[in-house]
Amino acid sequence: MTVAPGQVVGDAVLIHPLQDGGMGSVWMATHRRLGRAVAVKLLAKDHVTSPSATERFFLEARIISQISSPHVPEVIEYGVTPDGTPFLILALLDGVTLAQWIEQHGRLTVRQVASLLDQLAGALGAAHALGVVHRDVTPSNIILTHTRGTRGACADEAAFHATLIDFGIAKWRHAGSAALTRPGTTLGTPDYMSPEQLEGSVDVDERTDIWSVGVVAYVCLTGRPPFSGETFRELCLAIYCGTFTPATALRGALPQAIDAWFEEALASERNRRFGSVAAMSKAFELAATRKNRDTGRALQRRRRHGWPATIACAAVGAGLGIAVAGLVASPTTTHAASSPETAPSNGVAVAVAPDADASR
Ligand SMILES: Nc1ncnc2c1ncn2[C@@H]1O[C@H](COP(=O)(O)OP(=O)(O)O)[C@@H](O)[C@H]1O
Ligand SMILES: [Mg+2]
Repeated sequence: MTVAPGQVVGDAVLIHPLQDGGMGSVWMATHRRLGRAVAVKLLAKDHVTSPSATERFFLEARIISQISSPHVPEVIEYGVTPDGTPFLILALLDGVTLAQWIEQHGRLTVRQVASLLDQLAGALGAAHALGVVHRDVTPSNIILTHTRGTRGACADEAAFHATLIDFGIAKWRHAGSAALTRPGTTLGTPDYMSPEQLEGSVDVDERTDIWSVGVVAYVCLTGRPPFSGETFRELCLAIYCGTFTPATALRGALPQAIDAWFEEALASERNRRFGSVAAMSKAFELAATRKNRDTGRALQRRRRHGWPATIACAAVGAGLGIAVAGLVASPTTTHAASSPETAPSNGVAVAVAPDADASR
């Protein structure tokens, strides 16, 4: 199907594209019967021939429609056009992605991040309760809209509503959807992927989303991801090693307890991570309000855990060449994974503004 303005998809008339990606495109449209603005997601022609891509597309619709949360979009309709293009019609979210927001306004304040985490806990708590693992929590998959009828910058943390979108690679842990991902297949956005997800582990669970939320919070507060590399291989190595610059070293005005919070959010061993996104959000609130003198114990804890991480990193560094080389060479590294030869990019060009009062 040639997608163009005026085209009718289901009951919607396409107006203009919002995004054109590898897997498909998303259009702003008007729903004729409902008379409201909607977003229409279409699977790209190249992927229509693949039954698993089509199945995954419909699975996204079914997953989203079962999650009951104001922080997940509303599914209006889904189906296949007469010429065989799968489509999904969602309520239009009139806002910007978190990635765009950071690009335009720079880092978020601690209070804004606390609000974001609370809202993500709503979306992911509802998803996880159903056994759904999102597997692609990134700033590009979070849309911020305005509440209180205000427009313009979401300057006040209470003035934005966050919606988690793109359940395109979500996995239903207790259903047959796992079969859509072959063992060893790596799906996701590399910068935000947990070590176990990078490995293509079949038993990836809710804790991979907890890791990704940790990376999102780090990017929001510091303006850069905790793990990076010039090449995909270097990025994998950084993630496996698990060591990262404490957020307070990059932004001195942050409460020191935030460092211990990140240690837990981004623990390489997943059973050392927070037990839920709600627990993570509550702990962040606490860390955000804790005075710096209270953080001695947390810092000691970090030092205690620091040694094994360093030793493990040396071992991983020696042995991982082979594992990562295999991963890089894997033709099944898909979705937003970057070319192995180039530095991974999530498209977030982060503007870092000097910020004296990070606690807001
Ligand atoms: N319901 C929506 N309302 C407004 N914009 C949307 C909506 N859904 C998606 N988009 C836009 O389209 C982009 C891609 O959508 P997404 O579901 O993330 O698909 P992809 O699998 O291509 O990443 C988003 O980053 C956002 O800019
Ligand atoms: Mg997306």
